[in-house]
Amino acid sequence: MAVYNFGSINIDYVYRVERFVQPGETLSSVSLDTVLGGKGANQSVALARSGAPVAHLGRVSEGDAWAKQSMLDFGVDVDGIELIDAPSGHAIIQVDANGENAIVLHGGANQSFDQEAVQGLLFNANAGDWLLIQNECNALQHAFDIAHQKQMKIAFNPAPMNRSVAELPLHLCDLLILNEVEAVQLANATYTDASPLSENAQNDVALHAHLQTQYPDSAIVLTLGSKGAILLHQGQTHRVGAPSVEVVDSTGAGDTFVGYYLSGLIDNLAHETCLQRACVAGALAVTVAGATPGIPVCSAVDEAVDAMLKGKPSGS
Ligand code: RIB
Repeated sequence: MAVYNFGSINIDYVYRVERFVQPGETLSSVSLDTVLGGKGANQSVALARSGAPVAHLGRVSEGDAWAKQSMLDFGVDVDGIELIDAPSGHAIIQVDANGENAIVLHGGANQSFDQEAVQGLLFNANAGDWLLIQNECNALQHAFDIAHQKQMKIAFNPAPMNRSVAELPLHLCDLLILNEVEAVQLANATYTDASPLSENAQNDVALHAHLQTQYPDSAIVLTLGSKGAILLHQGQTHRVGAPSVEVVDSTGAGDTFVGYYLSGLIDNLAHETCLQRACVAGALAVTVAGATPGIPVCSAVDEAVDAMLKGKPSGS
């Protein structure tokens, strides 16, 4: 079973700042790093680092061939990455003293797909293979259609969330991974009851029930950052906490979570086990600066999971 990740590749310009720049203000950064990023690329790297076979399907500028090479070095199959004569996607990322980020995206090559291109990229995919997608590439409706025709399984991380997400055939997803904000936005897009849903995706039982009713055939995972994650699956709710760690840079933690979760499913682990491993992997990712540089290897995740189960602090 293969994973085809039709996903963004960004060049991340990471500016360390004491605090986020305010409207009308000019602020000097402490440092600048240029690294491989993009939710798609990060998730492919997380899959590869976890030991799962992953073929990335995407586009980047000919001038940024280093990004493709970097993914290859991480162990990603890059045959489906096209080098094109157009600017790459990029992200301008401020990381503050608390390790929080603020991101401005430019879609670039990630927004250059049409139906024919997606068909070509998924030509070799077979029934039972996974299609993984995020919301930084265009032509997602075509990706859904082709994957459905081919009887592939679909994992979707609708980040960054926008209005068009609710129009996609999300009922086809086997796995839907959302953060708290995305969960609230998606639930509200399809909710018609008079009493409003709360903004608290963590504890709003009505919101959980609504998502499960809308997408009964999907495993729905809500990521809660340092508070862990929730799995809504087959009418059950399962919660896990995350280990407490020192936050250096939260960029890419959610992507690490997605890659490790899917990798667990490919290894036939139970959803509950995938949830725990993914939480630990995401927590480790925030202890290192940069999106792809922070993605932990499998052995580090295994050790941290063991330590957590034995009640030791992570990394001791
Ligand atoms: O999820 C983190 C990613 O979001 C960054 O790598 C950046 O490229 C943006 O896409």
